[in-house]
Amino acid sequence: MVVGAIASIGLYTGFLKDLARDGNPHGHDHSDLYHEESHRHEHDHDEDSHAVDGVTRQFYPTPEPDRVILNVTETPEKSLAVNWRTDTTVVENFLEWAVATSGPEFQQNVSRVSARKETLRVKHGDEPVIKANYFSAEVNNLTPGMRYVYRVGSSSGWSEWHQVRMPRPDKLAFIYFGDAQNDVKSLWSRVIREAYKTTPDVDFMLHAGDLINRHDHDLEWGEWFYAGNFIHATIPGVMTPGNHEYGKGVKLSPNWRPQFNLPKNGPKGLEETCYVANYSNLKVISLDAEQIDESPYYAEKQARWLDSVLTHDPRKWTAVTLHYPFFSTKPNRDNEKLRGTFKPILDKHRVDIVLQGHDHAYGRGMVNNVTAGAGVKDSKSGTMYVVSVSGPKMYDVSNDPWMQRKARNTQLFQIISIEGDKLSYQAYTASGELYDAFDLIKSGKRPNKVVNHIPSTPERQ
Ligand SMILES: [Fe+2]
Repeated sequence: MVVGAIASIGLYTGFLKDLARDGNPHGHDHSDLYHEESHRHEHDHDEDSHAVDGVTRQFYPTPEPDRVILNVTETPEKSLAVNWRTDTTVVENFLEWAVATSGPEFQQNVSRVSARKETLRVKHGDEPVIKANYFSAEVNNLTPGMRYVYRVGSSSGWSEWHQVRMPRPDKLAFIYFGDAQNDVKSLWSRVIREAYKTTPDVDFMLHAGDLINRHDHDLEWGEWFYAGNFIHATIPGVMTPGNHEYGKGVKLSPNWRPQFNLPKNGPKGLEETCYVANYSNLKVISLDAEQIDESPYYAEKQARWLDSVLTHDPRKWTAVTLHYPFFSTKPNRDNEKLRGTFKPILDKHRVDIVLQGHDHAYGRGMVNNVTAGAGVKDSKSGTMYVVSVSGPKMYDVSNDPWMQRKARNTQLFQIISIEGDKLSYQAYTASGELYDAFDLIKSGKRPNKVVNHIPSTPERQ
């Protein structure tokens, strides 16, 4: 089954591109607002000039660490991976950590590691060059469930002490966000903050691609870090790239690898974009959707890799995230070839839930292809497919019956928790209203049982 699926990848390139490249070719895309904005400021800048205006200057680096982020690791119950940034005057930085104590006495028992440094120079359109030093460091052999504190920096400036609880083996919870992408500071910030307020004690936050709009626009990354602020430094992130994290020539955002510190355990060449994280009871997999779409080579690599990491996996639960949806919410979008190639692998290994973005609407359902026709679907499948959106850009939603619950024009975040044989899922709107809920229950070798708890709120059209 998988071999056949892999063989078909040869036919499978560029099909999503027309729909996907730079947003929606058939509708209004807010991305142009950013573009126009950049032309309004006609300044004469040299490389080191940071004098743009108050709005953008807040996103320039200083000697003090900023953009501090915790990243998921391959062994997230026992290790932490941190990333942060300073200006280029700072050449040496450290990560310090300790077991959290009830008072400030942890400071007497601090461990320190040196950070790796990478200098990044980025330029977007007519805007000035932004140069920064990005630092990354890891801590291993930590105790599951235990609280730690850490800070990053040097004598040139330190971050505050951030506090983090390591995941517990028996109980896990996380937040899932669809595309943030546009007006991230202005209109996405309330969504991540509401999510944090709703369930702050989660183990990770999952971002299903299109975190920003222009892959090489550092100031948009600045907005993303600004919006999440200390939440990024407190809860590890699982980031998968979308089409907007890629530029022409399938070029990954220059910021991606310097500013994140994600696992490098996927296919060679897809470090930090295609990877796996192993919790005791859950395997989380990020697939690089744009490289599936654009490159037969990387599509095949990812298909073989996915099959291999799912083979003989002892964990009860598996979640896959990728930006392009297996089943679309948008009218006239249908990623038939993605399904043809990767769905047999998900089916073979009984993947429980697939978390996606790209369609700028909400829809979820447990669906399958009917063998009689690729466009025909029925509801006998063990896998729950979800498409969601957290940012303000909105597309129409179709009436395709695969969706057991759907929404148009709604910013959402999802809270997913796993304990034993039960996965509980809730989708909340940006204003904190429960919009959708279900449980998945493991029942031996049969497909997961779905218990819907859909609130009586009318469907948002
Ligand atoms: Fe997208």
